[in-house]
Amino acid sequence: MCGIVGYIGSEQAAPILLDGLSKLEYRGYDSAGIAVFNGSEIDMVKSTGKLKVLEELTKGGATLPGFSGIGHTRWATHGSPTDTNAHPHYNKDCSIAVVHNGIIENYLKLRRKLEKKGYQFVSETDTEVLAHLLDYYYNGNPLDTITKVLYRVEGSYALGILFKEHPEEIYAVRKDSPLIVGQGKEGNFIASDVPAVLKYTRNVYFIENQEIVRLTKDSLNFYNIDEEEIQKESTEIEWDISAAEKAGYEYFMLKEIYEQPQAVTDTLRPRLKENEILIEELGMTEEEIREISKIYIVACGSAYHTGVTAKYVFEGLARIPVEVDLASEFRYRNPIFQPGTLVIVVSQSGETADSLAALREAKNCGVRTLGIVNVVGSSIAREADNVMYTWAGPEIAVATTKAYSTQLVAEYLLAIHFAKVRNQIDEQQFQSLLNDLKKLPDQIELLLGSKEKLQHFANRYLATEHVFFIGRGIDYAISLEGSLKLKEISYIHSEAYAAGELKHGTISLIEQDTLVVALVTQKSLYKKTLSNMQEVRTRGAFVMAVTNAGNKEVEKSADYVVYLPETNPYFTNSLAVIPLQLFGYYVSLGRGLDVDKPRNLAKSVTVE
Ligand code: G6P
Repeated sequence: MCGIVGYIGSEQAAPILLDGLSKLEYRGYDSAGIAVFNGSEIDMVKSTGKLKVLEELTKGGATLPGFSGIGHTRWATHGSPTDTNAHPHYNKDCSIAVVHNGIIENYLKLRRKLEKKGYQFVSETDTEVLAHLLDYYYNGNPLDTITKVLYRVEGSYALGILFKEHPEEIYAVRKDSPLIVGQGKEGNFIASDVPAVLKYTRNVYFIENQEIVRLTKDSLNFYNIDEEEIQKESTEIEWDISAAEKAGYEYFMLKEIYEQPQAVTDTLRPRLKENEILIEELGMTEEEIREISKIYIVACGSAYHTGVTAKYVFEGLARIPVEVDLASEFRYRNPIFQPGTLVIVVSQSGETADSLAALREAKNCGVRTLGIVNVVGSSIAREADNVMYTWAGPEIAVATTKAYSTQLVAEYLLAIHFAKVRNQIDEQQFQSLLNDLKKLPDQIELLLGSKEKLQHFANRYLATEHVFFIGRGIDYAISLEGSLKLKEISYIHSEAYAAGELKHGTISLIEQDTLVVALVTQKSLYKKTLSNMQEVRTRGAFVMAVTNAGNKEVEKSADYVVYLPETNPYFTNSLAVIPLQLFGYYVSLGRGLDVDKPRNLAKSVTVE
């Protein structure tokens, strides 16, 4: 996600800001900018592209002299990656500058209000709302102004703020986005993450939600939202920069696995309003939703696997027929479109060549298209008729985890919304589905808590040659993803099979101690899958089962069981995938492989 830095001290600020931003590059970004107080005005330079561009534009910071400033690397969310959308953002007379990490969820409402009051917006960002709100409430007292703004904004933020009238100070505040303060000998710092300041200080304060910080070159004051001063303890950082870039995780993949509760929350929360689902960006009237006669979900890799799950959810809840297609097949198979067809293209990168070609194919046939995309401003996001963004943040490990999880919940939201509009579910079912959706992030968190058990189990299978994943219905869809996660990063041959299909050939591959991972989360199919587990077990297989809490029955047919918290059967994939991701990760780690960059694979496949 975005990175923010700030500095006030006795050194030139700009080179320090550029250096700090370079330490946050691992977070992923598409544009960058810095603002420095030059003694009388706040100067600003920002640009799309890598930091190198900003360094060249500012001659390493030399063109922006001054002793206090803020900087930002932006990973586009609201508005595509352009110079104008890059941070910092000014208020109208350039007397306030702000950098922001996070998402202001009620920014549209605030923007409309501010526009009515005469404020003119130059960017498409949610952040610019903050600059104008700060201006609107500014009363000469920055602390008081900031708290007034905080009472109006909903969402997540870490902010760095400069006020021209207070040149000896910078301000920072956070809610649900990380922020730290570094206390140095020659000045003080703010940053989204520790590596940005480690070169200058190891003395760091971790800022909590809705705490406000006032920094001068030689003092730090912390306040709560009631403007009362609070005392905070600093922490001495003992680890080094390379560890810090992965926030202490050994690989990005594990970091991203752990970011899933937040990513799922960020994708759900803006669309769940007071017990309603509101997907503004869908651009479809209720009439148009009622007229959908068929949905094609088209994607590659793991994104395709989310489609396989979503088929069950759309068909089960909304009663709309769904076909799921691999994009590389769809684009050449001349599909038959009927009136009322909706093509949904799912993609993390928004640049996968086959998915993009499939989208174009559908558009050429005059069919309505919707992108479910993670990277803002990417080709699929731009070319689809409408785009619903997943808010997973940048994903660096080649094997997707958090993007997959956010794609799933985006598809659940759509399916439930369609079901409601088409009167296929009543209010009670609707509310119960929403309740279960809202619980998912905490339930994922809970499952992440038992990573040691999975690591221990994975270590027994480092030398195994073949693994089979089996399940029925949605459990089959989860098997596809579990199998892909394992094979792509561990190089162990694995296959996913619809459990009932085993008997038609694959069962002949089962030998003594072959690992079979059985997904057993669909109550209506328990008995059937249990029989399939027995079949492989009697032929010597070691069976690991993933099932719902309380389904003790499974223990009779399995050698090792992972239990999942209770959720709606349509959502079990979001939970079951967690132990499977951890299993794949730990097998790869145990085999000493490069977990984040498996051989022969690319994060974004932009060739056919
Ligand atoms: C590559 C990645 C996968 C991803 C697939 C589709 O194979 O390694 O993780 O699922 O591409 O990518 P997309 O960006 O379209 O989701």
